[in-house]
Amino acid sequence: MAAVSALTAAAVAVVGLAAPAHAADPVLRDLAAAKGVYYGTAVTSSKLSGTYGALAGAQFDSITPANEMKWGTVEPNRGSFDWAGADRVVNFAEANGQRVRGHTLVWHSQMPNWLANGSFSNTELRTIMTDHVTTEVTRYRGRIDHWDVVNEPLNEDGTMRGSKFYNQLGESYIADAFRAARAADPAAKLYINDYNTDGTGPKSNGMYSLVQRLKAQGVPIDGVGFQGHLILGQVPSTLQANLQRFADLGVEVAVTELDIRMTLPATDAKLTQQKAEYKAVTNACLAVARCEGVTVWGFTDSDSWIPDVFPGEGAATPYDAGFQPKPAYYGIAEALGWTGDGGPGDPGDPGDPGDPGDPTPTTGCAVAYAVQSQWNTGFTAGVTVRNTGTSPVNGWTLRWTWPSGQSVTQAWNATVSQSGAQATAVNAAHNAAIAPGGSVTFGFNGAWSGGNTAPGAFTLNGAACTAAVS
Ligand code: G3I
Repeated sequence: MAAVSALTAAAVAVVGLAAPAHAADPVLRDLAAAKGVYYGTAVTSSKLSGTYGALAGAQFDSITPANEMKWGTVEPNRGSFDWAGADRVVNFAEANGQRVRGHTLVWHSQMPNWLANGSFSNTELRTIMTDHVTTEVTRYRGRIDHWDVVNEPLNEDGTMRGSKFYNQLGESYIADAFRAARAADPAAKLYINDYNTDGTGPKSNGMYSLVQRLKAQGVPIDGVGFQGHLILGQVPSTLQANLQRFADLGVEVAVTELDIRMTLPATDAKLTQQKAEYKAVTNACLAVARCEGVTVWGFTDSDSWIPDVFPGEGAATPYDAGFQPKPAYYGIAEALGWTGDGGPGDPGDPGDPGDPGDPTPTTGCAVAYAVQSQWNTGFTAGVTVRNTGTSPVNGWTLRWTWPSGQSVTQAWNATVSQSGAQATAVNAAHNAAIAPGGSVTFGFNGAWSGGNTAPGAFTLNGAACTAAVS
């Protein structure tokens, strides 16, 4: 590990020269290591120099070749291999003390033409597939940490995708691929990997059943990869629970291709939301003991597949196209325990006060007091307390003074006591928190005589509120 740390330090020094000056920026790989996970990125081998190479080496402790290990790349003509790009990635990783996620051995897409368009008997196809797995895994034996053995085997409804392999060989192609991979490199962790399985739903259920079947057959599967190609505002709320239920099946889990795309142009508000969502995904992995790590699918917006495939969308990665860290980068760092100040590119959140780029947090409250019914000497009142500041309120005490001798006899959704003319309402457990812009309500019965004038002033946690009496 000493060697790795020295390399990291050296790489950081290079970044200091080649990349924009963010002297205090955290190193994601170090933060991740301290949390017992890895943080990785997909890379394009031809770009691994200059600022791109410096950041890829310095910030991440795992790299995945985005295309270089795919079948169509490594064996464009049958029996004729091109390992140049894959070798470059593996060598780069070793020079930077990084692990490699091998991606991917058996996939319906990016197959070489001779395979995609060729006609083979079932026996021949099975042998072609297992030979391919054996050849590639053997070549990098001992140098690949995790292999995505089978990629994207499912349809959206959770049924098996009708790939060339499935159509001819049935589901057993998956077991055979995993067995060939295990035999070729017993130390590599073997994963199945798919997209739109991140939250619970039909496709995730399909993956869950598939993994159960594979485990029941004794297939050597170690992990399930959740690609995490997400859309701003649509990060599944069930992500953590979903990761956990797979972990409970006895496999590792990882987020393998994270990006969070948005409709362009990117605005400050969207980038701030993206920060929170990168943070949430990272936190979901951290909360699941068997989640090994997170890989972003390209670390810079200049190296992302999104604009090519989703016209009008983009800005999906943690660095902008000019290698400037985006709010998302600081969101990842904060999830990994960083408490520093990222400067103007690091928009504030409640846990990160004091950034120069942040709006100064404010406090404030507005109270609406309404007599809802009144009789002889009694009345019922409702009170709404709104947080008009930008800081959350966690626990509150509201005070007011009765102008005409009223008293509180019974309250709900708060505990109300009275001393002389001063009433004090303290939150109930369920409404202690008031988010910025949010409100809580409580009510009470009171006694009056002579007059029932509404209180004219309220304080929340000692600070005056604006009163909207109705
Ligand atoms: O290299 C050629 C270039 O010479 C040519 O000029 C250009 C013209 O289109 O194409 C270039 O190849 C492209 C290649 O990426 C490298 O940039 C291919 O067209 C393009 O199809 C290919 O896209 C890749 C995609 O997989 C293919 O489905 C993306 O880079 C890669 O990020 C993406 O990764 C997949 C994962 O493997 C599996 N999960 C989904 C993920 C996103 O689609």
